[in-house]
Amino acid sequence: MQKKEKRLEVVVLAAGQGTRMRSKRPKVLHEIGGTALVERVIKTAFKLKPDNVHVVVGHESNAVQESLSEYDVRYAAQAEQLGTAHAVMQAMPSIDKDATVLILLGDVPLVSLGTLENCLLQAEEGISLVTSNVEDPSGLGRIIRGSDGRISRIVEEKDASSEECRIREINSGIFCVGPTILEEFFKNISTNNTQNEYYLTDILAFALEKDIEVTTVSPKRVSEIQGVNDRVQLADLERIHQLDQARVLMEGGVTLADPARIDIRGNLRYGIDCSIDINVVFEGEVILGDGVMIGPGSYLRDVQLGDGVVVEPNTIIDGAIVGARCQLGPFARIRPGTLIGANARIGNFVETKKTKIGSGTKASHLAYLGDSKIGSEVNIGAGTITCNFDGVDKHKTIIGDDVFIGTNSTLVAPLTISNGAYVGAGSTITSDVDSEVLAVGRGRQRNITGWVSPAKKQSRSDNK
Ligand code: UD1
Ligand code: CA
Repeated sequence: MQKKEKRLEVVVLAAGQGTRMRSKRPKVLHEIGGTALVERVIKTAFKLKPDNVHVVVGHESNAVQESLSEYDVRYAAQAEQLGTAHAVMQAMPSIDKDATVLILLGDVPLVSLGTLENCLLQAEEGISLVTSNVEDPSGLGRIIRGSDGRISRIVEEKDASSEECRIREINSGIFCVGPTILEEFFKNISTNNTQNEYYLTDILAFALEKDIEVTTVSPKRVSEIQGVNDRVQLADLERIHQLDQARVLMEGGVTLADPARIDIRGNLRYGIDCSIDINVVFEGEVILGDGVMIGPGSYLRDVQLGDGVVVEPNTIIDGAIVGARCQLGPFARIRPGTLIGANARIGNFVETKKTKIGSGTKASHLAYLGDSKIGSEVNIGAGTITCNFDGVDKHKTIIGDDVFIGTNSTLVAPLTISNGAYVGAGSTITSDVDSEVLAVGRGRQRNITGWVSPAKKQSRSDNK
Protein backbone atom coordinates (compact mmCIF):
# COMPACT_ATOMS: atom_id res chain seq x y z
CA MET A 1 0.00 0.00 0.00
CA GLN A 2 1.21 3.50 -0.81
CA LYS A 3 2.25 5.55 2.18
CA LYS A 4 -0.21 8.31 2.88
CA GLU A 5 1.14 11.77 2.00
CA LYS A 6 1.79 13.82 5.08
CA ARG A 7 -0.55 16.73 5.33
CA LEU A 8 0.67 20.13 6.39
CA GLU A 9 -1.40 22.98 7.73
CA VAL A 10 0.23 26.33 8.45
CA VAL A 11 -1.23 28.73 11.00
CA VAL A 12 -0.04 32.33 10.98
CA LEU A 13 -0.87 34.38 14.07
CA ALA A 14 -1.78 37.92 13.14
CA ALA A 15 -4.57 39.02 15.45
CA GLY A 16 -2.68 41.19 17.89
CA GLN A 17 -2.68 44.96 17.87
CA GLY A 18 0.96 45.44 18.59
CA THR A 19 0.53 48.11 21.25
CA ARG A 20 4.22 48.92 21.38
CA MET A 21 4.18 50.06 17.77
CA ARG A 22 1.99 52.99 18.89
CA SER A 23 0.22 52.89 15.57
CA LYS A 24 -3.27 52.94 14.12
CA ARG A 25 -2.11 50.32 11.68
CA PRO A 26 -2.08 46.75 12.95
CA LYS A 27 1.49 45.69 13.61
CA VAL A 28 1.57 42.93 11.02
CA LEU A 29 0.80 45.45 8.27
CA HIS A 30 3.91 47.49 8.94
CA GLU A 31 6.39 46.82 6.20
CA ILE A 32 9.88 45.57 5.62
CA GLY A 33 11.30 46.18 2.17
CA GLY A 34 7.89 47.46 1.09
CA THR A 35 6.07 44.22 2.01
CA ALA A 36 3.83 43.81 5.06
CA LEU A 37 5.30 41.66 7.82
CA VAL A 38 2.48 39.13 7.62
CA GLU A 39 2.72 38.96 3.82
CA ARG A 40 6.39 38.06 4.09
CA VAL A 41 5.52 35.22 6.45
CA ILE A 42 2.76 33.97 4.16
CA LYS A 43 4.95 34.06 1.07
CA THR A 44 7.52 31.91 2.84
CA ALA A 45 4.80 29.58 4.14
CA PHE A 46 3.47 28.93 0.63
CA LYS A 47 6.90 27.81 -0.50
CA LEU A 48 6.42 24.76 1.74
CA LYS A 49 3.46 23.78 -0.45
CA PRO A 50 1.15 23.29 2.53
CA ASP A 51 -2.38 21.96 2.19
CA ASN A 52 -3.71 25.14 3.77
CA VAL A 53 -2.51 28.40 5.22
CA HIS A 54 -4.71 29.74 8.00
CA VAL A 55 -4.34 33.31 9.19
CA VAL A 56 -5.71 34.19 12.61
CA VAL A 57 -7.02 37.74 12.48
CA GLY A 58 -8.57 39.96 15.11
CA HIS A 59 -7.41 43.53 15.54
CA GLU A 60 -8.27 45.44 12.31
CA SER A 61 -9.05 42.12 10.67
CA ASN A 62 -10.55 43.74 7.58
CA ALA A 63 -7.39 45.66 6.85
CA VAL A 64 -5.29 42.54 7.31
CA GLN A 65 -7.51 40.46 5.05
CA GLU A 66 -7.58 43.16 2.41
CA SER A 67 -3.81 43.34 2.34
CA LEU A 68 -3.66 39.59 1.74
CA SER A 69 -6.41 39.47 -0.86
CA GLU A 70 -4.18 37.95 -3.53
CA TYR A 71 -3.34 34.91 -1.41
CA ASP A 72 -5.46 31.81 -1.12
CA VAL A 73 -5.58 31.63 2.66
CA ARG A 74 -8.27 30.73 5.18
CA TYR A 75 -9.10 33.13 7.96
CA ALA A 76 -9.91 32.32 11.56
CA ALA A 77 -11.31 35.14 13.64
CA GLN A 78 -10.03 35.76 17.14
CA ALA A 79 -12.35 38.41 18.51
CA GLU A 80 -10.42 38.88 21.71
CA GLN A 81 -6.68 38.44 21.87
CA LEU A 82 -6.45 36.01 24.74
CA GLY A 83 -3.02 34.68 23.88
CA THR A 84 -1.08 32.71 21.30
CA ALA A 85 -2.64 29.34 22.23
CA HIS A 86 -6.11 30.84 22.07
CA ALA A 87 -5.23 32.23 18.64
CA VAL A 88 -4.24 28.79 17.31
CA MET A 89 -7.42 27.29 18.80
CA GLN A 90 -9.51 29.54 16.59
CA ALA A 91 -8.08 27.87 13.50
CA MET A 92 -8.54 24.30 14.77
CA PRO A 93 -12.05 23.69 13.40
CA SER A 94 -10.77 23.94 9.83
CA ILE A 95 -7.54 22.02 10.42
CA ASP A 96 -7.20 18.41 9.31
CA LYS A 97 -6.69 16.23 12.39
CA ASP A 98 -4.09 14.06 10.69
CA ALA A 99 -2.01 17.01 9.60
CA THR A 100 1.23 18.32 10.99
CA VAL A 101 0.70 21.94 12.04
CA LEU A 102 3.32 24.61 11.55
CA ILE A 103 2.73 27.74 13.62
CA LEU A 104 4.26 31.00 12.45
CA LEU A 105 4.09 34.46 13.95
CA GLY A 106 2.93 37.32 11.76
CA ASP A 107 5.47 39.59 13.43
CA VAL A 108 8.54 37.42 12.76
CA PRO A 109 9.00 38.30 9.09
CA LEU A 110 12.44 37.12 8.00
CA VAL A 111 12.27 33.43 8.81
CA SER A 112 13.80 31.43 5.99
CA LEU A 113 12.38 28.53 4.04
CA GLY A 114 15.37 26.39 5.05
CA THR A 115 14.72 26.85 8.76
CA LEU A 116 11.05 25.97 8.32
CA GLU A 117 11.93 22.89 6.29
CA ASN A 118 14.29 21.75 9.04
CA CYS A 119 11.61 22.35 11.62
CA LEU A 120 9.16 20.24 9.62
CA LEU A 121 11.64 17.42 9.16
CA GLN A 122 12.45 17.32 12.86
CA ALA A 123 8.88 17.32 14.07
CA GLU A 124 7.87 13.83 12.92
CA GLU A 125 5.17 12.78 15.37
CA GLY A 126 6.35 15.13 18.11
CA ILE A 127 7.10 18.82 18.45
CA SER A 128 9.91 20.79 16.94
CA LEU A 129 10.56 24.39 17.79
CA VAL A 130 12.93 27.00 16.49
CA THR A 131 15.13 28.40 19.23
CA SER A 132 18.35 30.33 19.34
CA ASN A 133 20.94 31.62 21.74
CA VAL A 134 20.92 35.39 21.53
CA GLU A 135 23.00 38.22 22.97
CA ASP A 136 20.00 40.07 24.28
CA PRO A 137 17.04 37.84 25.14
CA SER A 138 14.97 40.59 26.74
CA GLY A 139 11.24 40.42 26.20
CA LEU A 140 11.33 36.88 24.85
CA GLY A 141 10.28 33.49 26.15
CA ARG A 142 13.20 31.53 27.68
CA ILE A 143 13.82 27.84 27.04
CA ILE A 144 14.14 25.92 30.28
CA ARG A 145 16.06 22.65 29.96
CA GLY A 146 16.47 19.95 32.56
CA SER A 147 19.85 18.53 33.61
CA ASP A 148 19.51 15.98 30.79
CA GLY A 149 19.25 18.85 28.30
CA ARG A 150 15.63 18.08 27.60
CA ILE A 151 13.25 21.04 27.37
CA SER A 152 10.93 21.08 30.34
CA ARG A 153 9.04 24.27 29.56
CA ILE A 154 9.16 27.78 28.16
CA VAL A 155 8.83 30.69 30.51
CA GLU A 156 7.77 34.13 29.34
CA GLU A 157 9.95 36.95 30.62
CA LYS A 158 7.07 38.42 32.60
CA ASP A 159 6.70 35.13 34.48
CA ALA A 160 10.39 34.36 34.81
CA SER A 161 12.57 34.41 37.91
CA SER A 162 15.70 36.53 37.73
CA GLU A 163 17.72 33.36 37.31
CA GLU A 164 15.53 32.25 34.40
CA CYS A 165 15.89 35.69 32.86
CA ARG A 166 19.61 35.06 32.53
CA ILE A 167 18.97 32.19 30.12
CA ARG A 168 19.89 33.23 26.62
CA GLU A 169 18.18 30.47 24.67
CA ILE A 170 14.94 31.98 23.45
CA ASN A 171 11.73 30.81 21.87
CA SER A 172 11.22 32.10 18.32
CA GLY A 173 7.49 31.35 18.59
CA ILE A 174 7.78 29.07 15.55
CA PHE A 175 6.60 25.52 16.24
CA CYS A 176 5.90 22.47 14.26
CA VAL A 177 3.48 20.09 15.94
CA GLY A 178 2.70 16.53 14.92
CA PRO A 179 -0.88 15.32 14.37
CA THR A 180 -3.41 15.37 17.24
CA ILE A 181 -1.05 16.92 19.80
CA LEU A 182 -2.60 20.38 19.64
CA GLU A 183 -6.07 18.96 20.09
CA GLU A 184 -5.02 17.15 23.26
CA PHE A 185 -3.10 20.17 24.53
CA PHE A 186 -6.07 22.48 24.07
CA LYS A 187 -8.24 20.23 26.22
CA ASN A 188 -6.45 21.29 29.38
CA ILE A 189 -4.94 24.72 28.93
CA SER A 190 -5.22 27.53 31.42
CA THR A 191 -4.30 31.15 31.84
CA ASN A 192 -2.24 30.60 34.93
CA ASN A 193 0.31 33.37 34.32
CA THR A 194 0.91 37.08 34.93
CA GLN A 195 -0.64 38.12 31.60
CA ASN A 196 -3.75 36.00 32.10
CA GLU A 197 -3.30 34.65 28.60
CA TYR A 198 -3.48 31.23 27.01
CA TYR A 199 0.16 30.64 26.15
CA LEU A 200 1.07 28.38 23.27
CA THR A 201 4.42 27.98 24.94
CA ASP A 202 2.76 25.87 27.66
CA ILE A 203 2.70 23.08 25.09
CA LEU A 204 6.28 22.25 26.09
CA ALA A 205 5.39 21.43 29.69
CA PHE A 206 2.47 19.40 28.30
CA ALA A 207 4.85 17.53 25.99
CA LEU A 208 7.12 16.64 28.88
CA GLU A 209 4.19 15.33 30.88
CA LYS A 210 2.90 13.23 27.97
CA ASP A 211 6.36 12.11 26.95
CA ILE A 212 6.03 13.66 23.51
CA GLU A 213 9.32 14.01 21.73
CA VAL A 214 10.60 17.58 21.48
CA THR A 215 13.42 18.72 19.24
CA THR A 216 14.83 22.14 18.51
CA VAL A 217 16.10 23.70 15.33
CA SER A 218 18.32 26.76 15.19
CA PRO A 219 18.12 29.23 12.36
CA LYS A 220 21.22 30.06 10.31
CA ARG A 221 21.03 33.62 11.51
CA VAL A 222 19.37 35.16 14.54
CA SER A 223 17.69 37.82 12.38
CA GLU A 224 15.47 35.07 10.96
CA ILE A 225 13.65 34.78 14.25
CA GLN A 226 13.77 38.38 15.40
CA GLY A 227 10.27 39.68 16.02
CA VAL A 228 8.92 43.16 15.48
CA ASN A 229 7.31 44.57 18.59
CA ASP A 230 8.24 48.22 18.24
CA ARG A 231 9.57 50.58 15.60
CA VAL A 232 13.15 50.19 16.72
CA GLN A 233 12.99 46.47 16.01
CA LEU A 234 11.22 47.22 12.72
CA ALA A 235 14.06 49.51 11.64
CA ASP A 236 16.68 46.97 12.77
CA LEU A 237 15.14 44.26 10.61
CA GLU A 238 14.69 46.66 7.69
CA ARG A 239 18.43 47.39 7.72
CA ILE A 240 19.31 43.69 7.95
CA HIS A 241 16.98 42.94 5.07
CA GLN A 242 18.32 45.77 2.92
CA LEU A 243 21.92 44.74 3.52
CA ASP A 244 21.01 41.18 2.54
CA GLN A 245 19.52 42.44 -0.71
CA ALA A 246 22.54 44.64 -1.36
CA ARG A 247 24.78 41.63 -0.93
CA VAL A 248 22.73 39.64 -3.45
CA LEU A 249 23.04 42.49 -5.95
CA MET A 250 26.80 42.72 -5.54
CA GLU A 251 27.14 38.95 -5.82
CA GLY A 252 25.06 39.22 -8.98
CA GLY A 253 27.52 41.66 -10.52
CA VAL A 254 26.10 45.08 -9.61
CA THR A 255 28.47 47.77 -8.34
CA LEU A 256 27.10 49.59 -5.30
CA ALA A 257 28.78 52.77 -4.11
CA ASP A 258 27.70 51.84 -0.59
CA PRO A 259 25.67 48.70 0.24
CA ALA A 260 24.35 50.48 3.34
CA ARG A 261 22.75 53.22 1.27
CA ILE A 262 20.39 51.50 -1.13
CA ASP A 263 16.76 50.57 -0.50
CA ILE A 264 14.83 48.03 -2.50
CA ARG A 265 11.13 47.85 -1.72
CA GLY A 266 10.06 45.35 -4.31
CA ASN A 267 11.90 43.40 -7.00
CA LEU A 268 14.97 44.60 -8.78
CA ARG A 269 16.20 42.70 -11.82
CA TYR A 270 19.36 43.74 -13.59
CA GLY A 271 21.73 43.05 -16.46
CA ILE A 272 25.47 42.87 -16.33
CA ASP A 273 27.71 45.69 -15.06
CA CYS A 274 25.12 48.04 -13.62
CA SER A 275 26.31 50.62 -11.17
CA ILE A 276 24.26 52.27 -8.46
CA ASP A 277 25.36 55.31 -6.51
CA ILE A 278 24.27 56.13 -2.95
CA ASN A 279 20.75 56.76 -1.65
CA VAL A 280 18.86 55.24 -4.53
CA VAL A 281 15.39 53.85 -3.75
CA PHE A 282 13.72 51.17 -5.86
CA GLU A 283 10.04 50.36 -5.51
CA GLY A 284 7.77 47.83 -7.16
CA GLU A 285 9.11 46.01 -10.21
CA VAL A 286 12.26 47.55 -11.61
CA ILE A 287 14.26 46.10 -14.48
CA LEU A 288 17.68 47.45 -15.44
CA GLY A 289 19.37 46.46 -18.69
CA ASP A 290 23.12 45.96 -19.07
CA GLY A 291 25.48 48.74 -18.03
CA VAL A 292 22.84 50.99 -16.49
CA MET A 293 24.27 53.73 -14.28
CA ILE A 294 22.16 55.37 -11.62
CA GLY A 295 23.30 58.54 -9.95
CA PRO A 296 22.88 59.40 -6.27
CA GLY A 297 19.54 60.30 -4.73
CA SER A 298 17.34 58.83 -7.46
CA TYR A 299 13.98 57.13 -7.00
CA LEU A 300 12.73 54.45 -9.40
CA ARG A 301 9.33 52.78 -9.20
CA ASP A 302 7.91 50.26 -11.67
CA VAL A 303 10.46 51.12 -14.29
CA GLN A 304 12.23 49.39 -17.11
CA LEU A 305 15.55 50.89 -18.27
CA GLY A 306 17.27 49.71 -21.44
CA ASP A 307 20.97 48.90 -21.84
CA GLY A 308 23.38 51.72 -21.14
CA VAL A 309 20.84 54.14 -19.71
CA VAL A 310 22.41 56.82 -17.53
CA VAL A 311 20.31 58.29 -14.74
CA GLU A 312 21.91 61.48 -13.48
CA PRO A 313 21.52 62.47 -9.79
CA ASN A 314 18.20 63.21 -8.11
CA THR A 315 15.96 61.86 -10.81
CA ILE A 316 12.51 60.42 -10.24
CA ILE A 317 11.32 57.76 -12.66
CA ASP A 318 7.90 56.27 -12.03
CA GLY A 319 5.94 53.94 -14.28
CA ALA A 320 8.12 54.35 -17.36
CA ILE A 321 9.84 52.32 -20.03
CA VAL A 322 13.10 53.85 -21.19
CA GLY A 323 15.02 52.79 -24.30
CA ALA A 324 18.71 51.99 -24.55
CA ARG A 325 21.36 54.63 -23.93
CA CYS A 326 18.98 57.37 -22.84
CA GLN A 327 20.22 60.00 -20.46
CA LEU A 328 17.80 61.14 -17.78
CA GLY A 329 18.22 63.96 -15.27
CA PRO A 330 19.71 65.38 -13.17
CA PHE A 331 16.49 66.49 -11.48
CA ALA A 332 14.11 65.06 -14.08
CA ARG A 333 10.68 63.78 -13.14
CA ILE A 334 9.46 60.98 -15.37
CA ARG A 335 5.88 60.15 -14.45
CA PRO A 336 3.63 57.16 -15.21
CA GLY A 337 2.87 56.37 -18.80
CA THR A 338 6.13 57.71 -20.17
CA LEU A 339 7.71 55.67 -22.99
CA ILE A 340 11.06 56.86 -24.20
CA GLY A 341 12.85 55.56 -27.30
CA ALA A 342 16.57 54.90 -27.54
CA ASN A 343 19.21 57.62 -27.24
CA ALA A 344 16.81 60.27 -25.98
CA ARG A 345 17.74 62.86 -23.41
CA ILE A 346 15.47 64.21 -20.71
CA GLY A 347 17.36 66.81 -18.75
CA ASN A 348 17.04 68.86 -15.60
CA PHE A 349 13.63 70.08 -14.47
CA VAL A 350 11.81 68.30 -17.24
CA GLU A 351 8.56 66.58 -16.26
CA THR A 352 6.90 64.01 -18.49
CA LYS A 353 3.58 62.23 -18.04
CA LYS A 354 1.62 59.87 -20.33
CA THR A 355 3.98 60.78 -23.09
CA LYS A 356 5.70 58.81 -25.79
CA ILE A 357 9.04 60.20 -26.81
CA GLY A 358 10.82 58.98 -29.94
CA SER A 359 14.43 57.95 -30.25
CA GLY A 360 17.11 60.62 -30.26
CA THR A 361 14.72 63.31 -29.05
CA LYS A 362 16.05 65.85 -26.58
CA ALA A 363 14.26 67.86 -23.93
CA SER A 364 17.31 69.07 -22.10
CA HIS A 365 15.90 71.56 -19.65
CA LEU A 366 12.81 73.00 -17.98
CA ALA A 367 9.80 71.54 -19.76
CA TYR A 368 6.43 69.90 -19.11
CA LEU A 369 5.43 67.21 -21.59
CA GLY A 370 2.07 65.65 -20.75
CA ASP A 371 -0.43 63.59 -22.78
CA SER A 372 1.85 63.84 -25.78
CA LYS A 373 3.25 61.78 -28.57
CA ILE A 374 6.57 63.11 -29.71
CA GLY A 375 8.49 61.70 -32.68
CA SER A 376 12.16 60.97 -33.06
CA GLU A 377 15.05 63.45 -33.34
CA VAL A 378 12.89 66.26 -31.99
CA ASN A 379 14.37 69.18 -30.11
CA ILE A 380 12.21 70.47 -27.28
CA GLY A 381 13.53 73.86 -26.21
CA ALA A 382 13.88 74.97 -22.61
CA GLY A 383 10.63 76.22 -21.13
CA THR A 384 8.34 74.28 -23.48
CA ILE A 385 4.98 73.53 -21.93
CA THR A 386 2.27 71.30 -23.34
CA CYS A 387 -0.98 72.89 -22.15
CA ASN A 388 -2.85 69.60 -21.87
CA PHE A 389 -5.66 70.69 -19.54
CA ASP A 390 -8.39 73.19 -20.38
CA GLY A 391 -9.86 73.16 -16.88
CA VAL A 392 -12.24 70.32 -17.69
CA ASP A 393 -10.61 67.84 -20.04
CA LYS A 394 -7.14 66.65 -20.96
CA HIS A 395 -6.04 66.98 -24.59
CA LYS A 396 -3.24 65.49 -26.65
CA THR A 397 -0.26 67.10 -28.27
CA ILE A 398 1.16 65.27 -31.28
CA ILE A 399 4.61 66.24 -32.50
CA GLY A 400 6.11 64.51 -35.58
CA ASP A 401 9.72 63.55 -36.30
CA ASP A 402 12.55 66.09 -36.69
CA VAL A 403 10.49 68.92 -35.23
CA PHE A 404 12.20 71.88 -33.58
CA ILE A 405 10.30 73.53 -30.74
CA GLY A 406 11.95 76.83 -29.84
CA THR A 407 12.62 77.93 -26.31
CA ASN A 408 9.73 78.98 -24.09
CA SER A 409 6.96 77.69 -26.33
CA THR A 410 3.42 77.15 -25.11
CA LEU A 411 1.72 74.34 -27.01
CA VAL A 412 -2.03 74.51 -26.45
CA ALA A 413 -3.60 71.08 -26.93
CA PRO A 414 -5.29 69.54 -28.82
CA LEU A 415 -2.51 70.21 -31.26
CA THR A 416 -0.57 68.51 -34.03
CA ILE A 417 2.82 69.71 -35.18
CA SER A 418 3.88 67.70 -38.23
CA ASN A 419 7.25 66.28 -39.30
CA GLY A 420 10.06 68.75 -39.80
CA ALA A 421 8.10 71.79 -38.57
CA TYR A 422 9.70 74.63 -36.64
CA VAL A 423 8.22 76.63 -33.81
CA GLY A 424 9.85 79.97 -33.13
CA ALA A 425 11.04 80.72 -29.62
CA GLY A 426 8.47 82.28 -27.29
CA SER A 427 5.50 81.13 -29.33
CA THR A 428 2.05 80.28 -28.10
CA ILE A 429 0.83 77.71 -30.60
CA THR A 430 -2.91 77.17 -30.72
CA SER A 431 -3.42 75.70 -34.16
CA ASP A 432 -1.84 72.79 -36.01
CA VAL A 433 1.45 73.30 -37.82
CA ASP A 434 2.06 71.53 -41.13
CA SER A 435 5.15 69.66 -42.13
CA GLU A 436 8.30 71.72 -42.82
CA VAL A 437 6.53 74.98 -41.83
CA LEU A 438 7.82 77.64 -39.43
CA ALA A 439 5.21 78.74 -36.90
CA VAL A 440 5.73 81.92 -34.95
CA GLY A 441 3.02 82.77 -32.48
CA ARG A 442 4.16 85.78 -30.53
CA GLY A 443 3.77 89.57 -30.55
CA ARG A 444 6.05 91.23 -33.06
CA GLN A 445 8.90 93.20 -31.45
CA ARG A 446 8.70 96.99 -31.75
CA ASN A 447 11.70 99.22 -31.04
CA ILE A 448 10.44 102.66 -29.96
CA THR A 449 12.92 105.50 -30.34
CA GLY A 450 13.09 108.63 -28.16
CA TRP A 451 11.49 106.92 -25.21
CA VAL A 452 12.50 108.18 -21.76
CA SER A 453 11.93 106.07 -18.68
CA PRO A 454 9.84 107.61 -15.83
CA ALA A 455 12.90 107.43 -13.56
CA LYS A 456 14.95 109.47 -15.97
CA LYS A 457 12.16 112.06 -16.38
CA GLN A 458 12.12 112.45 -12.60
CA SER A 459 15.84 113.07 -12.27
CA ARG A 460 15.74 115.66 -15.07
CA SER A 461 13.10 117.77 -13.21
CA ASP A 462 15.17 117.47 -9.95
CA ASN A 463 18.11 119.05 -11.68
CA LYS A 464 16.16 122.17 -12.67
C1 UD1 B 1 5.72 35.33 21.79
C2 UD1 B 1 6.01 34.08 22.63
C3 UD1 B 1 7.44 34.16 23.17
C4 UD1 B 1 8.40 34.30 22.03
C5 UD1 B 1 8.03 35.48 21.14
C6 UD1 B 1 8.87 35.48 19.89
C7 UD1 B 1 3.96 33.25 23.71
C8 UD1 B 1 3.16 33.24 24.94
N1 UD1 B 1 5.07 33.99 23.73
O1 UD1 B 1 5.80 36.44 22.66
O2 UD1 B 1 7.74 32.98 23.91
O3 UD1 B 1 9.72 34.45 22.53
O4 UD1 B 1 6.66 35.41 20.73
O5 UD1 B 1 8.68 36.61 19.11
O6 UD1 B 1 3.61 32.59 22.76
N2 UD1 B 1 -1.21 36.95 18.57
C9 UD1 B 1 -2.50 36.63 18.21
N3 UD1 B 1 -3.44 36.52 19.19
C10 UD1 B 1 -3.16 36.66 20.50
C11 UD1 B 1 -1.83 36.98 20.86
C12 UD1 B 1 -0.88 37.11 19.87
O7 UD1 B 1 -2.81 36.49 17.03
O8 UD1 B 1 -4.07 36.53 21.31
C13 UD1 B 1 -0.22 37.10 17.50
C14 UD1 B 1 0.32 38.52 17.41
O9 UD1 B 1 -0.41 39.25 16.44
C15 UD1 B 1 1.75 38.30 16.95
C16 UD1 B 1 2.12 36.93 17.48
O10 UD1 B 1 0.89 36.29 17.80
O11 UD1 B 1 1.86 38.28 15.55
C17 UD1 B 1 2.99 37.00 18.74
O12 UD1 B 1 2.32 37.73 19.75
P1 UD1 B 1 3.08 38.72 20.71
O13 UD1 B 1 2.08 39.32 21.62
O14 UD1 B 1 3.94 39.63 19.96
O15 UD1 B 1 3.95 37.67 21.55
P2 UD1 B 1 5.32 37.95 22.28
O16 UD1 B 1 5.06 38.64 23.56
O17 UD1 B 1 6.28 38.54 21.36
CA1 CA C 1 6.15 39.41 19.31
